Amino acid sequence: MKILVTGGLGFIGSHTVVELQNEGFDVVIIDNLSNSSENVLDGIVAITGKKPIFENLDLREKAAVQNFFARHADVSGVIHFAASKAVNESVENPLLYYENNINALVYILQELQKKESANFIFSSSCTVYGEADQMPITEDAPVKPALSPYGNTKQIGEEIITETCKVSNIRSILLRYFNPIGAHASAEIGELPNGVPQNLVPFITQTGIGMRQQLSVYGDDYPTPDGTCIRDYIHVVDLAKAHVVALQRLIGGKNLDRVETFNLGTGTGSSVLEVIQTFEKVSGKTLPYQIVGRREGDIISAYANTDKANDVLGWKAKLTLEEGLASAWKWEQKIRS
Ligand code: WQD
Repeated sequence: MKILVTGGLGFIGSHTVVELQNEGFDVVIIDNLSNSSENVLDGIVAITGKKPIFENLDLREKAAVQNFFARHADVSGVIHFAASKAVNESVENPLLYYENNINALVYILQELQKKESANFIFSSSCTVYGEADQMPITEDAPVKPALSPYGNTKQIGEEIITETCKVSNIRSILLRYFNPIGAHASAEIGELPNGVPQNLVPFITQTGIGMRQQLSVYGDDYPTPDGTCIRDYIHVVDLAKAHVVALQRLIGGKNLDRVETFNLGTGTGSSVLEVIQTFEKVSGKTLPYQIVGRREGDIISAYANTDKANDVLGWKAKLTLEEGLASAWKWEQKIRS
């Protein structure tokens, strides 16, 4: 069975390609290499021994999307990762985000709705909840006004999919990720941030390896036990496996609704200081950091209620924060060696 993975050379996409191949799926990747490298293909092959079909296409070009689906009429499912995802950048350049994250989605759905049936998995984010009123966060927590154009594109994307599935043969699962971290145990694939990492864990590993002088901790005056923000850090391999489980659910026709939503997290919240302490434990390094002012747009706390993913989707995160940080550190050491 052939599955299209858009953004399949990216961080979460490449890990999902590996798990799809492990489960016997044939994978075709579309990636425009704007936030990834073709070398990632070598990493995937090193792990699975199977080379996915790769097409360097820009999904913002409607004709290119139409042509792809004409040539790959046997694609029976799509996992759509390809999107711009830097919160700060989206504030500075909103139109880049609306064009890349919305137009591409529309063009893909237009092709899928021509099929007799189609399975579509959407890479969404817990960012749609904004500052949720209650922890842990359930899927029926209210979607709040987006705090950034990036977050807005995820909300709009979910609405577009929901409305389209009502009037077409597409069935979809929306996966709301919490904070993905780590790398495949082989260290053949991992996170490759562009420039200075915005996210905590890659900044920590780059500080640990000596690429960065010190980590700035964005505020320790939040109403949390140690004053720093709390997040749900989920291992990217657990996250990747959830996509395969979701796809198998759609293929097996087990989803009762045309669109289902699942939070993908560990269910455990960890503070920034706890992440630092855990990194120091797994790496044996002392991490230089300083407490600075809060970062604009940061929410205090976000961690998932995992009951629906466990009970309905039949998936549960297995890997710990320690394993996530240890794998991220192993990957950082490998790519800088
Ligand atoms: C985590 C915590 C920071 C960097 C973002 C997106 C979200 C998703 C994941 C795409 C926060 C603190 C961070 C640093 C720090 N991305 N921090 N110093 O903001 O929870 O989520 O990435 O889907 O949509 O919003 O993740 O890793 O940036 O920050 O103190 O140098 O670490 O303040 O509390 P975030 P993050």
